[in-house]
Amino acid sequence: MKANVLNSALKYTAARIEQVLNRLLPDANMHPVRLHQAMRYATLGAGKRVRPFLVYGAGTMLGADNALLDAPAAAVELIHAYSLVHDDLPAMDDDDLRRGRPTCHRAFDEATAILVGDALQTLAFEALATAPGLDAETRLAMLTTLAQASGSQGMVGGQALDLAAIGQSIELDTLEQMHRLKTGALINASVQLGALTAHADATTQVQLTRYACAIGLAFQVRDDILDVIADSLTIGKTQGKDAIDDKPTYVSLLGLDAALAFSTELRDEAIAALDGLPKPELLQQLAHYIVAREA
Ligand code: IPE
Ligand code: IPE
Ligand code: MG
Ligand code: MG
Ligand code: MG
Repeated sequence: MKANVLNSALKYTAARIEQVLNRLLPDANMHPVRLHQAMRYATLGAGKRVRPFLVYGAGTMLGADNALLDAPAAAVELIHAYSLVHDDLPAMDDDDLRRGRPTCHRAFDEATAILVGDALQTLAFEALATAPGLDAETRLAMLTTLAQASGSQGMVGGQALDLAAIGQSIELDTLEQMHRLKTGALINASVQLGALTAHADATTQVQLTRYACAIGLAFQVRDDILDVIADSLTIGKTQGKDAIDDKPTYVSLLGLDAALAFSTELRDEAIAALDGLPKPELLQQLAHYIVAREA
């Protein structure tokens, strides 16, 4: 499979999820207008949509219908969008630029940005709870998966570790644990949501978990790398911010070359995990994309 097949699949997902999110998000002129405008601002119009791609990619690989994958794909992207809004707040990373535009608290205000995160989070669970066509057992498993991946044992826990690590010299395994939680957990949940929709068997789920854990960590290693080697215009966020904030990253701990080498090791581990699965090409290509992406 060629990279242009992946590119068109990424474009297809981005267009599809944009429509789903647009339908799920309250109208911009619905009361309270400022909050709803800010929710739409933080969610629509940009973003690589890697997590929805994983829900659709894993799900369709195992025979699930795209229509059933819309709600879980939107739910995980809503959690992700909320995590970005809060991540950018002055009390956290204090960033001005996100997805090539002023961050939510810059375009609106801090209180609104906090509420946007809160409301996007609850909307994610509402989307899963009310999605048509899911049997009760699958729906409950999805709600549990997303809740666990988002909370204090997942993304939020990772964010807590990230903030506690500022200015500290930490061990590599502590950094790995932090990255697996703050970024890996939601990426793994995305794959699991696709697998749950398809009622994947236990062996397949184990393989997909190995795949997802490897690309989840690789995704944040690449994010650390891009913070050093990219430019703000391309990544749509302020380049060099990790060093400014004295954040431990894979680049600060290992150096650029070793961080790059580690990311390709993780890519290979992810690809190997898919061995024997039907039609693994798209997920394989995504693993390549994750460690080679320029934004
Ligand atoms: C950025 O995520 C935050 C991390 C978890 C590294 P993405 O790189 O997926 O951001 P968008 O959604 O494409 O803007
Ligand atoms: C963010 O990690 C992880 C989240 C849970 C949002 P970063 O703080 O490195 O993400 P960016 O670089 O701001 O996108
Ligand atoms: Mg952060
Ligand atoms: Mg940040
Ligand atoms: Mg970063």
